[in-house]
Amino acid sequence: MQQDVAKVLFDRHAIARRVEALARQITADLTDEARQSGRGGDAALEITLVPILSGSFMFTADLIRHLPMRLQIHMLAISSYPGTATQSRGARLQRDLTNLPETLAGRHVLLIDDILDSGGTLRMAIDLLQSRQPTSLRTCVLLRKDRPEARSIAIDYVAFESPDAFVVGYGLDYDGYYRNLPEIVTLRPEVYGGA
Ligand code: IMP
Ligand code: MG
Repeated sequence: MQQDVAKVLFDRHAIARRVEALARQITADLTDEARQSGRGGDAALEITLVPILSGSFMFTADLIRHLPMRLQIHMLAISSYPGTATQSRGARLQRDLTNLPETLAGRHVLLIDDILDSGGTLRMAIDLLQSRQPTSLRTCVLLRKDRPEARSIAIDYVAFESPDAFVVGYGLDYDGYYRNLPEIVTLRPEVYGGA
C-alpha cells in the first residue's frame, strides 16, 4: 500500500492538530449560540452530528473525541464515486445505510463530509437535512478541493484546503481501498490502471 503513495499532503500530526482546533471552534460557536438564545449552562449544549458515509468515518471518530458536549450521531450514506471512478458520477442516497430521524426540529445539526469536490453530495445532503427543519445547520468538511465548483458552496468549517487532485487515506478511498492510511496522500498514476 505504502508503495502506491506518490506524495503525502497532510501527515498524521498535522491532521491531529487541525482536528483538535476545529473541535474547539465548533464547541465555541455552539456555546455562543446557546448563550445568545438565552439557554446558558452546559446542559443546554447539545449537537447532532450527521457524517456522510463512508469517507468521513475516521474524521468523525477523531473529531468527537474532542467534543465535550452531549451529542448524537445519525448517518447519511451518499455515494458518488462508484468503484474505480475518480470523477463524480452524481450523488445517490443509499437508504439502507441512512438512519436520520424523521424530524430534526429542536436540534443543532452539524453535517460532516470527507471532501468537497463538485459539491453534488453536500448539496443533496443539505437539502435533505433542511427538509427536516433543524434549529440550525452547519457544515464541516475535512478537505475542500481547489476548484470553482467547490467554492460555490458556503461551508462553516474546513479542515484543509486540498489541491485539485484525487486523494486517499484517513477514510478516503480509491475503489474501496486505502481508507486505513493514517495520512492524506496522492497515489502514483500507475495505480489508476495505467491512466
Ligand atoms: P462531490 O459530490 O463531487 O463534491 O464529491 C464528494 C464525494 O466524492 C466525497 O464525499 C468523496 O466520497 C468522493 N470524493 C471526491 N473527491 C475524492 C477524492 O479525491 N478521493 C476520494 N474520494 C473523493
Ligand atoms: Mg463520500
